[in-house]
Amino acid sequence: MRSHGYKHMVAVGMILAVVTQGVLSLKLRDVSVPAVVIKGDDVWLNCTYDLEKETLYSIKWHKNNIEFYRYIPVNSPPGQVYDLEGIHIDLTRSSEGNIYMPTTDVNSEGIYRCEVSSEAPIFGTVKGERELRIYVNPSTKPQILGTKPHYDISDIVNLTCKSAPSRPAAFLKWLVNGVEVEPRSHQLYRPPALEYPPGLFTSTLMLSLPAPYHGKMSVQCEAIISQAHTLRSEEITITNSTRGRNSMAGDIDSMTDGPSISGGKSEYQVGETVDVNCTATKSQPPAELHWYINDKEVRPEHIVPRPPIVYSGGEESTVLGLRFEVRSRHFQKNEMRLRCTATLSEVKKMTSEPIEVETAEQQRSDLHVDQVNAESVQSKSSTSCLTTTLIKSFLCILILWSSV
Ligand SMILES: *[C@@H]1O[C@H](CO)[C@@H](O)[C@H](O)[C@H]1NC(C)=O
Ligand SMILES: *[C@@H]1O[C@H](CO)[C@@H](O)[C@H](O)[C@H]1NC(C)=O
Ligand SMILES: *[C@@H]1O[C@H](CO)[C@@H](O)[C@H](O)[C@H]1NC(C)=O
Ligand SMILES: *[C@@H]1O[C@H](CO)[C@@H](O)[C@H](O)[C@H]1NC(C)=O
Repeated sequence: MRSHGYKHMVAVGMILAVVTQGVLSLKLRDVSVPAVVIKGDDVWLNCTYDLEKETLYSIKWHKNNIEFYRYIPVNSPPGQVYDLEGIHIDLTRSSEGNIYMPTTDVNSEGIYRCEVSSEAPIFGTVKGERELRIYVNPSTKPQILGTKPHYDISDIVNLTCKSAPSRPAAFLKWLVNGVEVEPRSHQLYRPPALEYPPGLFTSTLMLSLPAPYHGKMSVQCEAIISQAHTLRSEEITITNSTRGRNSMAGDIDSMTDGPSISGGKSEYQVGETVDVNCTATKSQPPAELHWYINDKEVRPEHIVPRPPIVYSGGEESTVLGLRFEVRSRHFQKNEMRLRCTATLSEVKKMTSEPIEVETAEQQRSDLHVDQVNAESVQSKSSTSCLTTTLIKSFLCILILWSSV
């Protein structure tokens, strides 16, 4: 009985040691940065942490690895801002790790990192990153340029569709009589999007096709802006040893908008099978999921498609399974990291006003004449020849000449 009790004590002691390490050390709770911001909007960049028994030394914010904010409680003032493009901090509203930017511009886009460090004797550091993208919606519908009041039957209708500046660039489409012109059609010419004004993109798409045989056609241009952003799940670190660090529970437990990973263990031995699911938060259109092992995208043979969870409002949560046998190559320094990303896209469409392209009545008669008989040539040709191009005039003259 006695020795049994002793063993029990030892076991409790070991658990306590693990728990002490797990709970009573500096922890990052959340790095909250919006994934998408419309240019000009204000943002909060919030970094929350648990010091536990430690003392705060500093909080630092970086954008694309460049420091722009530092909070050191013993300094006076404790908060300090460094100049960086796209960073506009209102210090009066910011405190500690939470900073307020009353406005944003295209240079505000980037990867934001918050780094929290503790004082001696522990000198712990925890950090987390989030990506912020800046979008700009086009201010107007796309425009159709280059229309002529009338087209001759043998004319080429040559039109340009131009989008209002946006970020990201708009993808343009032409619709002729309501039918989309194939993106690879030789009737289209798509020059690269022009970056103007800086940070915004103007797209153009040219359409050239013969003037309509039957008098009229309707053309319309559509601008599509796919505002996609990718959210990362928490990274799960799996070890192959019982003494390994276990972050299965998540260092950052309030990543409310990212996808979540379920069904895994924190520890696997070589030869065991990892069988996990990644579930996106609900959205419409549904999110696209990707799996990564040690930052490398997983090969399709290990991916298990799963039915989505459909909600009553039409929204869906995409689910994607991952299943593979653990090999020793999966472990780097006794650790294997699993991560899943969800790409959400919001597609915005804007359509130009439809434009009617019309072939002038008398020019159509011309063709009729050419095709059918020469008897009516004289009168009709003589009037229309006056307005046509040099080459056509030459043709008309020939016709007239022969019919005299
Ligand atoms: C960020 O922190 C500020 C001030 O602490 C708070 O007002 C704001 O709601 C927080 N925003 C988010 C998204 O957590
Ligand atoms: C169409 O218009 C563009 C731009 O104005 C011009 O470069 C091109 O040569 C024109 N093509 C035809 C077939 O007229
Ligand atoms: C974990 O994996 C590493 C690398 O494959 C290996 O060196 C180590 O012995 C393994 N540890 C255990 C407990 O299996
Ligand atoms: C993954 O989801 C499917 C349902 O789509 C479920 O049957 C399976 O048990 C889940 N696997 C894990 C490991 O949670």
